[in-house]
Amino acid sequence: MQTKYLEIIKDIKTQLAKGILTTGSKLPSVRQLAQQFSCSKNTVIRAYNELEKEHLIFSIPKSGYYVVNKATQPSTQPQIIDFLSAGPDKRIMPYIEFQHCINQAIDTYKEELFSYNDQQGLSSLRVQLAKYLQGLQVFTNPERLFIVSGSQQALHLLASMPFPNGKHNILVEQPTYFGFIESVRLQQATTFGIDLTMEGIDLEQLEYIFRNNDIKFFYIVPRFHNPLGHSYTNDEKKRIVELAEKYNVYIVEDDFLGDLDPNTKSDPLFAYNPSGRVIYIKSFSKVFLPGLRVGVVVLPALMINDFSRYKFSADFNSSVLSQGALDIYLKSGMFNSHIKAIKELYSRKMNALQIACEALLPSHTFFTKPTSGFYLSIILPAHISAKQLVHLLHEKNIWMDDAARMFLPAYQQDHLIRLSISQVDEHLIEEGMKELVYCLSLLERHKNSYKNVHHLL
Ligand SMILES: Cc1ncc(COP(=O)(O)O)c(C=O)c1O
Repeated sequence: MQTKYLEIIKDIKTQLAKGILTTGSKLPSVRQLAQQFSCSKNTVIRAYNELEKEHLIFSIPKSGYYVVNKATQPSTQPQIIDFLSAGPDKRIMPYIEFQHCINQAIDTYKEELFSYNDQQGLSSLRVQLAKYLQGLQVFTNPERLFIVSGSQQALHLLASMPFPNGKHNILVEQPTYFGFIESVRLQQATTFGIDLTMEGIDLEQLEYIFRNNDIKFFYIVPRFHNPLGHSYTNDEKKRIVELAEKYNVYIVEDDFLGDLDPNTKSDPLFAYNPSGRVIYIKSFSKVFLPGLRVGVVVLPALMINDFSRYKFSADFNSSVLSQGALDIYLKSGMFNSHIKAIKELYSRKMNALQIACEALLPSHTFFTKPTSGFYLSIILPAHISAKQLVHLLHEKNIWMDDAARMFLPAYQQDHLIRLSISQVDEHLIEEGMKELVYCLSLLERHKNSYKNVHHLL
């Protein structure tokens, strides 16, 4: 039976993600699982075959099924500890379930696939998303939603289009998401920065910039900031929205990881002015599938026509197949249970990373302490170059990101590295941190010279 088959796959994947089933352990026999799920042995064999295809388990004839042990798999590839990749953890992606949604979408949206479509996005998906957004404290209606080809597209279009306040410049936190820096750079938009630390931003400075710098909008990543992992308090968010209102500045709120927030009382900035001052953007790439290229933006009614023209000139409309499949996935309730599973996984990995940082990093090195999300940053001592350290680590197959590209030219610095927990294997976090500490000590002993220490690796 189709649903039993999916249930078994999901159950095994959840046990893998939670560490209940570990590498090398034996899975229940086909007979046991058939009894447990009240289904035929064939259904269990099909589910096991599917998990085998995904390289999560393997079978030994006449013995049974086992969890793949990556360390003992014959492989010519060196082991990489990946704190760099920022896509979702592949081990918990609902690949099979989503495959069914894609197939169903081809059928359901046949007519739409044969033609160009509503620039604003499939109306049934917008209805689903308006409901989903309520859980994130974004109360709006489907008429204000625009489906975009990834939230990056919304950012790019907003940076280029005129705003109702008639102003011209953009303000960003420093550091900020590299994709937005790149977008304003390519569009040659005049961009100001405001320093962000784990203590937040200086609200007096914000007021000064809003008052004096012809700011069209303030681009802000309010939860689990990229790259710092910082989140604002509700009071700070409220104050920022009040200042925006006072000085007729728009806010572009990039809530790319809002779904992961363990604090149910945390509001988006949107909640403090739902009528149009705050433009809310939601990505599905970090918590779901980046390859879908679907994001959503909530616009003030006043901006829908202009945004429509800019969106049309970029790509007519976003992929109907992606939109349709996401619509079916949301309707089925599978998205909500998927979010529940990943919330747990990512906060566990973030916790493991912070425990390792606390235990291993030398006292003159600081690290940020996000409550969840993907990113944590390490602030290096002033005499250590982030670029050099990242290079050294790369030689040892430990991947991390030098945060230099996340700063505007006027804010450049070379002492911040970004670690992402999304794709790193949980069991390798401590080992990766030990290597970081080792490379750091080499650089300190050899006067921060990559040339001097490279041969010691
Ligand atoms: C803060 C932030 N916003 C937006 C994006 C773009 O995401 P999407 O895939 O939805 O375009 C990213 C991607 O890394 C990001 O880190």
